Formats: sequence, structure tokens, C-alpha cells
Amino acid sequence: MRRILSVLAGALLCAFPALADEGMWLPSLISQRIADMQAKGFKLSAEDIYSVNQASLKDAVVLFGGGCTGEVVSKEGLLFTNHHCGYSYIQKHSSVEHDYLKDGFWALTRDQELPNPGLTVSFLDRMEDVTSVMLAAPDKELAAAELVKQATAPGNGLSASVEALYYGNQYFLFVYRVFTDVRFVGAPPSSIGKFGGDTDNWMWPRHTGDFSIFRIYADKDNNPAPYSPDNVPYTPKKYFKVSLGGVKEGDFTFIYGFPGTTQEYITSDAVRYISEVSDPAKIALRTLRLDIQKAYMSNSQAVRIQYSSKNASVSNSWKKWQGEMKGIRKMKTVQSKKEYEAAFEKWAKGTRYEGITEKLADLYRRLEPINYAREYTSETALAIELPQFAASYVSAQPENRQAVKEAFLKDYYMPIDVQTFIDLMAEYGKNVDPEFQPLYYKVHMDLYDNVKDWAYALFTSPFAQGDYSDVEHDPVYEFRREFVKYYNEQLLPVYRDLTSQITELYHDYMQGQMEFEPGKTFYPDANLTLRVAYGKVQGYEPQDGIYYHPQSTLTGIIEKDNPNIFDYDIPQALRDIYATGLYDDQPVCFLATNHTTGGNSGSPVINADGNLIGLNFDRVWEGTQSDVTFDPEICRNISLDVRYLVFVVDKVFHVGAILQEVEFVD
Ligand code: ARG
Ligand code: GLU
Repeated sequence: MRRILSVLAGALLCAFPALADEGMWLPSLISQRIADMQAKGFKLSAEDIYSVNQASLKDAVVLFGGGCTGEVVSKEGLLFTNHHCGYSYIQKHSSVEHDYLKDGFWALTRDQELPNPGLTVSFLDRMEDVTSVMLAAPDKELAAAELVKQATAPGNGLSASVEALYYGNQYFLFVYRVFTDVRFVGAPPSSIGKFGGDTDNWMWPRHTGDFSIFRIYADKDNNPAPYSPDNVPYTPKKYFKVSLGGVKEGDFTFIYGFPGTTQEYITSDAVRYISEVSDPAKIALRTLRLDIQKAYMSNSQAVRIQYSSKNASVSNSWKKWQGEMKGIRKMKTVQSKKEYEAAFEKWAKGTRYEGITEKLADLYRRLEPINYAREYTSETALAIELPQFAASYVSAQPENRQAVKEAFLKDYYMPIDVQTFIDLMAEYGKNVDPEFQPLYYKVHMDLYDNVKDWAYALFTSPFAQGDYSDVEHDPVYEFRREFVKYYNEQLLPVYRDLTSQITELYHDYMQGQMEFEPGKTFYPDANLTLRVAYGKVQGYEPQDGIYYHPQSTLTGIIEKDNPNIFDYDIPQALRDIYATGLYDDQPVCFLATNHTTGGNSGSPVINADGNLIGLNFDRVWEGTQSDVTFDPEICRNISLDVRYLVFVVDKVFHVGAILQEVEFVD
């Protein structure tokens, strides 16, 4: 038997030659990759990763909130995720008296743990191939709803969805068990959890202690239940043991999590649009916004606090797009996709796939101007803060309006918004084809002659000056209403019609590509469903002549430490402990070759033995083209070394009791 198995394994190895570490694989089909994983060092089996019959690693992985991943690390439902994933919850618990963002928070007893209304964690109960049902169904939406209905029952804590893979060539039903009583247990101060801020974001060398700790609660029968003081810690089917053995270059790593979106199979036209049109335009617009914010933030501590979170979110994509655009150009992806399409068409002659790439090209030609106007409008007119606020004020229930107003004004600094309006609307005028501008815009540009005068009129309106009595007729509200109306009624319908035609063609093109390259293993694009990505710890060469080592240490934090730079001002406790000289080599973060994307934040990084060695939290910006095209030379994910988490909790803040329930291994 054993002999047969090893022959089989050998055969599989030949069928799936060792690939670059590209791909986000479906856990239930991981048996197709397990031979390659094992050849690269993994010591467990496919059943250990995903099984419906026994507890497996999947039972220790959760979708945290709506867009992050987390992992269970104890038999009492203790959960690790990123600091930036817990950020908004930590913020909600913070006030001037208890600023947990600034000072950190540690619950030393269960009754100190803080509930988080609205926060859910979802375990994948099972996934099932429902392709045959879906493809046979005359009405797919109805069929999906029926499958979901069969899989769930009111009040049983299950939720389900049917997701298309490979542009609808395959369908899976995903059934989740959703827990709604999730409590905040601990987080370091932002000066550790967000160390490096947006300066270091997407970059190596990295020293961010990007972790926060939560606990899942269940009712007495261990089932999901709304928050109740009577709930008890959840007993998981499976939890990760935490490895203190550390990592070295070349070690096998495996990420288990919920990647959001990738587009690996799009045509050259779609890639060209991203790297030559969309990314450059959006980057330029955000550069303007960031420059304005920076100028005002560096002049005033109050403004810096007001705009720190907004600045972070504007900056996050801005930096990512730069890497994506550069990476696509460097890899000549447009050119190589063109060549691929030519070869495909040659092969497709006389088949039902003939001409499909030309049809796609034609649709993209029609889509491009509308898509550009759509994106440009949301990055300009729809990004102005005061009109956004006017709209949410109008749509709020009267009893909530005061709260909406206070929340907005707390973090609003009008000079930034005015300058942003002037700069962005000037760009809008220059760069959006009049064919795609609302009449409202043209009328106002005629009326005011220039954006500055228009800005003056808007920002001195009664609403802007604090008189909310007639907001629905105020020019600020009108601005938002007219642009949203144009966006929804003129741009979106055409955009949706064309993209749905495109998606339909991709359904066939995907099939065609699989027939064209029968030897290639295609992995489905990310769609926020549970995936496995495996690779190894490895550095990279960002530029000629430079090699980035894959591990960072506490010494690097001290090198960056600067009390005068907000992003690099560390807690005194960290300086003191470094001064003992005992922790110079304390590991902090590491690089690996795992294929990840947004949504993978907080994902467990697992070693060859299936134990937790880190928490994924970022990628290097030079490799962010991996959402479109993966370059094994340069695409790297960045993880927190779990030993730094333990060090911070235990050695820096002396709250090791929190980790007492964790099982540590070598
Ligand atoms: N780049 C990471 C991600 O896309 C981290 C973002 C949060 N951190 C920050 N400095 N903005 O989610
Ligand atoms: N920080 C990202 C997230 O929130 C992960 C980085 C990425 O790979 O895009 O999921």
C-alpha cells in the first residue's frame, strides 16, 4: 500500500511540476497540490488542511469582520489578527481618558474583555462543488438562493453563499458558522502596532508589531449567540499551536486566509488600462490630496490627529498602485499578454473560441472612456468631504443627525477640504471628457468661471457655515446630489452593461485558455473565499545591487526610533528593554513568497509542521502587481514574526498571562 502511495505521489509530482509559488488554492481541492507542497517541505496531509470528517486546520481560521483573516490559538477561543484589522474596534473603545490606540490595552481577566457590537468572525463549515446544479439552472440567482436556503436554517448561526470561480465555469457553495460575540482582549500601543505608519506601509525593511488579540464567545452549547454576559469562551474544533522555533531563509511557509480580489486572467487591454491609464491618473489625484493633507498636518498637532486615519486610507492605495503600475511595466505584462492572445487566436481558429480576444478588445474599447470617467469622478467630485457629510446628514434619521454631525466635525478641517476641492475639480475639468461631465458641472463652471470662485461659493454656503436648517437646498448638498445622480444614472448603467458582457466572454475565454494550455494548472482568482497559498521564507532584490534579507529585528526598530517623528516614536519601555543588550536579535517581521492580497491581513503563517509562525499583514510595494501578474523574483508578503508578538506581550508589557492558554512548541 505504502509503495503504491509513493508511486502515486511520484506520478502526481510529474503531473504538477514544481511551480513558482504563485497561486491561491481552494482548500477542498488541495489534494491536487499536496504533492508539490510536500516536495517543498510540508509535513502534513491534505486532510490536515481541509476535511469535512475531522477537525482540520481550516477550523482554526476565520474571516474577521468583513475583510480580514484571523486564527484561533487556544482551546478557549483566543484569536490573533492584525492591529490594523482590529483598529476601528480599538478606536471605538478609546476616549481621551482611555486611549487604547495610544496606550494599548490588555484584559487580564475575562470580565475586562470588551464586546464589539457589529463584529463577526466566520468559520468555514464546509464548501461544496455545486457547478452541475448551477450550470443546469435556468435562473442562476434563484438556484443560488435555493442552495443557500437548503444549507442554512434561521437561528442556527449558519450563513452561506454561492460563489462563481473561473468566471462561472465552476460554482461552490460556502457554508459559514458566524459568531457575533467577539471580545477585545489586547493590543499594543499604535507606536508598536502601527510602527512605521504610512511611511513604512508596503515596504521592507519593516518593523510593525501589527497584531491585536480577541476572544470568541458562544452560548453554553458552544453555538454562536448574540452578546450576553452569560456566554462562555468558544471551544474550537481546532486551534494553532504557536511555534517559537523561528524561521530561516528557505523554510516552507503556508498562508491560510481570505484573499479579496485578483485578476490574473484578464487580457492585455485590461492590463494596459490598469497600468497606463487608471493607476497613473488615480496616483496623480491622490498625490495632490496627500500633499495638501501633509502641509496642514505638519503645521498642527490637532490637524494631524484629525486626518491621520483619512490620510492612511488615501495613502494605502496610492502606494499600492505605484508598485502595481511599475511592476506591470517592468514585467512587460501588456506585451506578453498580447503575444499570448495572438497564440491563443491562432490555436482557436475554427473552434468556438475563435475571435474571442478581439471581441473582448472591442468591448474594452467601449468600456475604457466610461470606466475612466467613473473612476475619475469617484476620485474627485465624490471624494470631497463636506458634500459627503451633507448627504449623510440628509439621509440620517432626525434623531441621529446630531451624532452624525459631531462625528464628522470632530475630524474635519475645512482649509484642507477647500484646497482639495480646488485642485481636484481643476483636474476633473482638464481630464474628463465633457461628454462624461454632468450639465450641472458645466453650468457652474460657466457661472463661476474658475474653480476657486466656485469653491468660495460652496464653502461659504449656509450649511458650510453651520446653518443646517435648509440643507436639502444648500449648494453643498446639491453638489453631491448632482454628481451622484450623474454617476448612478449616466455612468453606472453603461459600465455595468459592458462589464457584464465582458464577464460573459471571460467565461468562455477561461475555458478556452484551459483547453489551449492543458498542462497548466489554473487557480481561481481570489474572491474573499478561503484559500491556501504556499511558498518559502525569502528575501528579494528591489533594485540592481541590493538584496533585502528576509528577517528584521529589534535593532532595526531602534535604528528608526525618533521621538520627533510620529511614525517612529516608540514606547520608552521598548527603548529600555533594548538597552539591556539582551534582545538585539529579537525577530520582528519576515518576508516570504506566498501569493497574497488584501483580505489576507491577519492570516496565519504556518510552518512545515502546521504550527503558527507569523501573522501576514502586507506585501512589498514592488510586488503589488501580483493582483494581476505574479513575479516570483519580487512578489513578497510581509508577516509579523509570532515571536515578536510574544516578546511584546510578555517582555515589554509583562502581561504574559494573556498567553498562558496558548500551546507553545519549537
Ligand atoms: N498595506 C496594508 C494593507 O493593505 C496595511 C494597511 C494599514 N496600515 C497603514 N499604515 N495604512 O492593508
Ligand atoms: N494589508 C492588506 C490587507 O488588509 C494585505 C496586504 C496585501 O497583500 O494587499 O489585507
